[in-house]
Amino acid sequence: MMIAGMSPFRLQAQTAKPATDIESRIEELLTRMTLAEKLGQMTQVTVTDNMYEMRGMIRAGMIGSYINIHDRALADTLQRIALTESRLGIPLLMARDVIHGYNTIFPIPLGQAATWDAALVEQGARISATEASSDGIRWTFSPMLDISRDPRWGRIVESYGEDPYLTTTLGTACIRGLQGSDLSDATSLAACAKHFVAYGAAEGGRDYNSTFIGERRLRDVYFPPFEAAVQAGAATFMTSFNDNDGIPSVASHWLHHEVLRDEWHFDGLVVSDWQAINELEPQGYASDLYEAVTRAVHAGVEMDMMGYGYLTHLDSMVRSGQVDQLLIDQAVRDILRVKFRLGLFDQPYATTSPSVKYAPEHLAAARAMAAQSAILLKNDNDVLPLSRRLKRIAIVGPMADAPHDQMGTWSFDGDKSHTITPLKALRETLENHAEILYTPGLTYSRDSSQTGISQAVATALQADVVIAFVGEEAILSGEAHSLADLRLQGRQTELLEQLSQTGRPLITVVMTGHPLPLERESACSDALLLMFHPGTMGGPALADLLTGQMSPCGRLPVTLPRTVGQIPIYYAYNNTCRPSEGNDPSLADIPLEAGQTSTDCNSRYLDYGTAPLYPFGYGLGYTHFAYGTPHTDTAHIAAGDTLHVAIDITNTGRTKGIETVQLYTGKPAASVVQPVKELRAFQRVTLSPGETRRVTFALPTTQLAFTGVDMKRRIEPGRYLLWVAPDSSTGERIEFFVHAP
Ligand code: GLC
Repeated sequence: MMIAGMSPFRLQAQTAKPATDIESRIEELLTRMTLAEKLGQMTQVTVTDNMYEMRGMIRAGMIGSYINIHDRALADTLQRIALTESRLGIPLLMARDVIHGYNTIFPIPLGQAATWDAALVEQGARISATEASSDGIRWTFSPMLDISRDPRWGRIVESYGEDPYLTTTLGTACIRGLQGSDLSDATSLAACAKHFVAYGAAEGGRDYNSTFIGERRLRDVYFPPFEAAVQAGAATFMTSFNDNDGIPSVASHWLHHEVLRDEWHFDGLVVSDWQAINELEPQGYASDLYEAVTRAVHAGVEMDMMGYGYLTHLDSMVRSGQVDQLLIDQAVRDILRVKFRLGLFDQPYATTSPSVKYAPEHLAAARAMAAQSAILLKNDNDVLPLSRRLKRIAIVGPMADAPHDQMGTWSFDGDKSHTITPLKALRETLENHAEILYTPGLTYSRDSSQTGISQAVATALQADVVIAFVGEEAILSGEAHSLADLRLQGRQTELLEQLSQTGRPLITVVMTGHPLPLERESACSDALLLMFHPGTMGGPALADLLTGQMSPCGRLPVTLPRTVGQIPIYYAYNNTCRPSEGNDPSLADIPLEAGQTSTDCNSRYLDYGTAPLYPFGYGLGYTHFAYGTPHTDTAHIAAGDTLHVAIDITNTGRTKGIETVQLYTGKPAASVVQPVKELRAFQRVTLSPGETRRVTFALPTTQLAFTGVDMKRRIEPGRYLLWVAPDSSTGERIEFFVHAP
């Protein structure tokens, strides 16, 4: 029997005998619910100041979830109304965006990605869940798993970057941290894999814009983190705003039934993004809300975030037979299942003490993560760490003492009074060693004051070294905050270049959201340290790094372009029929009246070539590492077997350091063109000076699979290339062969 909008797999599952106690409790409750109460469960609204109105809707069973809960007393009040004053006493699902911390703010997800450390990401998520649940929150809309290859896109900051493997590794770690080992524990939050799917491919990097991603690239690049999220037990999914190849995600039956349910067997709930159902009308996919609701409910979107469309229209649609009651029942089952799994029917109120907020161990974890998120891009003459002989240190720039902006976007519940800025931390750390001379120069990132620059230069001339903190205010990235021009805002670059002309060593710290094309800034700085908005403890973390208490170990989770015109730019590109050989002449080298075919005919920009400013996976430390030749246990392996790889890594420097050893593979000839290389594994190893470590990898050939011409996954026999390297652009290449099993 086919139910409009329902896939046979789902229909068969629901008619089977309930398998567990939760399923039995769901079925029992479902039989007692009216249609109105069912539609109430499918409705999420935001808290308001009108308690009378909220009480009335809850009593009538019209609400299943509240978003923007961040007050324990209010959460408990609303929950008590639901439990004691509504007919069935179904608990509310309290939700809030806890994207990179709740009160204690961790680095923005792009900064967390720069740590390449799943354990750190999991710990941060666990702490965030502990703090948030103390205010009654039990559902959050994290992790964002959107692959992001366009630095113009404001929400790249909420992602784990450009690579599916890194995003999968860190995204599933976030899910584990949020949900804990037992989802019914009072400190566990239901995670939400979002935004499903390909939202990060918005054309032009402009938020909410259309995407045009073919099924094969969806399956090989954009789906993997989401499929892994299902396997990691993510409790919920959220739709994405974009329409892909003309079909809005929120109305895509293929995404939410064929892929998510039938292929991946997801049994949690699917929530729309904020009013995304209503927005099908401006998107050009519905003539009114009535039609939008029809499309979304048949597409398998089960909870309507802030749209009120389900509450308004589904009753009449079901009564008229336009929407099958079974479709509603299935949606309500999935919603109730999340509530039962969270233990809300047994423990609906917050139990964690509010004293967990900003707990010392939370701040310590945020400091450690911020320090490991910093990426040292340049360090000429080992100007870092700061010499202890320095007597006068100039601190300048708009981000040196910016407690609000340092937290970055999506830090609603972070209190800036708890933020420790670089200025404050360096004053505390260096107070007995050197005199700190502070002049912001520019007072905020968009400041174009010339006076300020002169004052900063005057301060620099009195010092032995200059540390300049530049970057972006928090408002310049995040949702709906894409940028067409990624040059540093205001006159920050001019500030740096004038500081450089003082002849003092210039250490530039870029504290930003967007990954920026820092070519001019890199050229005029002796050292360049990149931190994606580091959060509450960014200051102490920077002090630890600048003074050498810790060595930078962050690695780029995205490619840094030389200029915005190179975008999209990412390491896992296709080679093209005429790849650039890298020895391209610069524009200045081309003579006047040059012959039309006097330059190479290859895929590059005549003015900027193809190379990025800094490649994916790149980062320096205060020591250096030497890589031996990678070798494999065999050069010929059967498809389905596991290849074992080993390489000797040596710390050739004078200090201990963490190295992120990265393994890439490529298939130079395939039945479908493959990227030149793809990250398959990485390991972070800590080596003492002079120490050599044999680093080994086990590479299942299943990881080499790609989507073939027939849209099916295949491990294709043939010649493969392999690199084990410090980043995506270097490393000795070896080869191996996969044979049919
Ligand atoms: C926003 C975002 C989504 C967020 C939701 C709730 O529009 O797209 O990521 O979780 O609304 O705030």
